[in-house]
Amino acid sequence: MNKVTVLGSLNVDTILRFKRFPKPGETLPLTGKSIAGGGKGANQAIAAARAGAQTAFIGKVGQDQEGDFMVKQLTDSQVDDQFVAHSDQAATGSAFILLDSSSENRILIDGGTNQQVTAADVDAAQSAIAASDFLIAQFETPIAATTHGFELAHAAGKRTILNPAPATAAVPADLLALTDLIVPNETETETLTGVHITDEHSMIKAAEKLQAQGISTIIITVGSKGAFWMRETDHGFVPAYKVNAVDTTAAGDTFIGALSSVLHPDFSNLAEAVRLANRASSLAVQQLGAQPSIPTKAEIIAAERA
Ligand code: RIB
Ligand code: NA
Repeated sequence: MNKVTVLGSLNVDTILRFKRFPKPGETLPLTGKSIAGGGKGANQAIAAARAGAQTAFIGKVGQDQEGDFMVKQLTDSQVDDQFVAHSDQAATGSAFILLDSSSENRILIDGGTNQQVTAADVDAAQSAIAASDFLIAQFETPIAATTHGFELAHAAGKRTILNPAPATAAVPADLLALTDLIVPNETETETLTGVHITDEHSMIKAAEKLQAQGISTIIITVGSKGAFWMRETDHGFVPAYKVNAVDTTAAGDTFIGALSSVLHPDFSNLAEAVRLANRASSLAVQQLGAQPSIPTKAEIIAAERA
């Protein structure tokens, strides 16, 4: 069983559904409104744990009901919450997910306590990092804390996985040099490399640019099309499973969590791990909400047999 530590965000997601966006000055009724656990970090941790990894989480919530709710989402899925700090300096993070009838989401975020995660919070979890196969991080918590975490992981001989989301142009070179596996989507790949992703040729070009920055292994996720992978000079494309998407929120997070639960630490089974991650995310897009949509290992196995 893989051991995974995720460093990242927790958000209470408010999901607003409507037929179309109002024009300036216009008022329209919602067709649905719901609350669910979210945040890229927490989603990835829950996806890893539900897929079977022994998972710990490093993050920060406020001293509010939302913080209690988010910790409960982690522990209900067997994610170890002992490295989740509680701070009275800000409110728990929140996100507003706007879903029109196209099922493509737009998200607005209030970072709250996620923005207050520090290197000291990461130090407090050093034992978990040193005991894990992978340390996974994203860009909804401060880059300084992530860089420190990746240093600790490497000092302990462990692998690091970076999901550079949401897209940020200014990614420090030292963080990329500490990254073993990077998992951007198309937009994030373009932001990082300047390469416009159109076909496999452009993905190879972008991946080579990332390799030149010191990252040996790259996975570029391309939504309903599938995922491209490159490991040293080897590469391939794994098509997505065809399903009817109702809400793609947390599809990428589910992909990364599920991937980390089966990936060998030397990345030798990368293509097969990508295929299984595609399976997990194909299940997540068929349900509304981030964390409620993340499949369990039993659900992934059932879908594999169907
Ligand atoms: O990746 C999806 C997540 O992004 C949502 O759960 C929302 O909280 C935002 O962080
Ligand atoms: Na979903």
